[in-house]
Amino acid sequence: MPRPRAYITRRIPHAALEIVAAACDYTLWDSDDQPVPRAVLLREAAQADGVLTMLSDKLDGEFAAAAPRCRVVANMAVGYDNADVPVLTAHGVLLTNTPGVLTDTTADLAWALLMAAARRIVEGHKLIEAGGWKSWSPLFMVGQEISGATLGIVGAGRIGSAVARRARGFDMRVLYHNRHRAPALEAEIGAEYHSFDDLLRAADFVVVLVPLTAETRGMVGAREFALMKPTTVFVNAARGPIVQEQALVAALKHGQIAAAGLDVFEHEPIGADHPLLGLPNVVVVPHIGSATLATRTRMATTAAHNLVAALTGQPVPNPVNPEVLGHGD
Ligand code: NAP
Ligand code: GLV
Ligand code: GLV
Repeated sequence: MPRPRAYITRRIPHAALEIVAAACDYTLWDSDDQPVPRAVLLREAAQADGVLTMLSDKLDGEFAAAAPRCRVVANMAVGYDNADVPVLTAHGVLLTNTPGVLTDTTADLAWALLMAAARRIVEGHKLIEAGGWKSWSPLFMVGQEISGATLGIVGAGRIGSAVARRARGFDMRVLYHNRHRAPALEAEIGAEYHSFDDLLRAADFVVVLVPLTAETRGMVGAREFALMKPTTVFVNAARGPIVQEQALVAALKHGQIAAAGLDVFEHEPIGADHPLLGLPNVVVVPHIGSATLATRTRMATTAAHNLVAALTGQPVPNPVNPEVLGHGD
């Protein structure tokens, strides 16, 4: 039996490369700062039995058609909105993701954005840098109170629940909205289930952690910002296209909400001329929710284990479309 061939679309931690190398011959796009060009991805995928991918790689019909040998795509992310799952399934390609290993790290970042936006941390830093700090004054740079406030989590799954746990330490009331109630979260945290609109009306902090799907695309727009309080702090640590960005800019400009903390954007990466950047009440970071070395190493090794398991006929830890496995080969 020849060893399976794998392609890896970015430089990943060595521990993950070792897992792949133990079972496969592989090549990789060995770059930190540039994503694999589309033409290179399609050319390399044509030779591969499996591909280890990033969330920036579009895994669509063109990809599947270019990769006739490919049996598995191991995405190094929990989110897989970059993949057209029905198309991969139709081509018999197993898709895997990396749930769980980044949950706390991403919740930490969401919490950091919440606190930074509420307490005007970046605005204050910039003010001092610009020589703008003249005196202490009772109403100078007042922000939003976090302790004791009401947190609304839109998408209280793994990461949303971890955010809810952090809120407990701040004596917050926690509301959540999912398609289905989460009894375990209600029992653990005392989180209260609300309709989407009721949550938006009641929350002092709205944190979005739903996956990007046909249903959630654009789910936070002008109507939703109008339901929020003028003191609300909005955080998106999920995916940019869940939020209608122009509506967010307008809500921040016109004082419909107080502030926003954002890790994700409609079109990534954003440049220095992005309309969100001129606003004092916005904190932005470049999609770094899971960005600690320990977590990125766990994500890469998880993706590598998924890839190797699928290529060697072992049980696959994190299949997204397990129905593909039933077909055998
Ligand atoms: P998860 O455990 O699957 O949680 C997703 C939650 O969203 C579930 O509770 C689900 O509940 C809810 N949901 C799904 N569709 C919904 C809808 N239409 N309306 C309302 N609620 C809905 O996923 P996770 O591991 O927490 O990750 C969540 C997302 O975070 C990922 O998909 C990814 O896009 C993003 N993420 C971002 C970063 C980053 O770097 N910023 C890092 C990791 C993950 P129901 O099924 O009951 O609706
Ligand atoms: C990162 O955004 C992920 O989905 O893992
Ligand atoms: C503020 O610095 C205070 O001491 O109250």
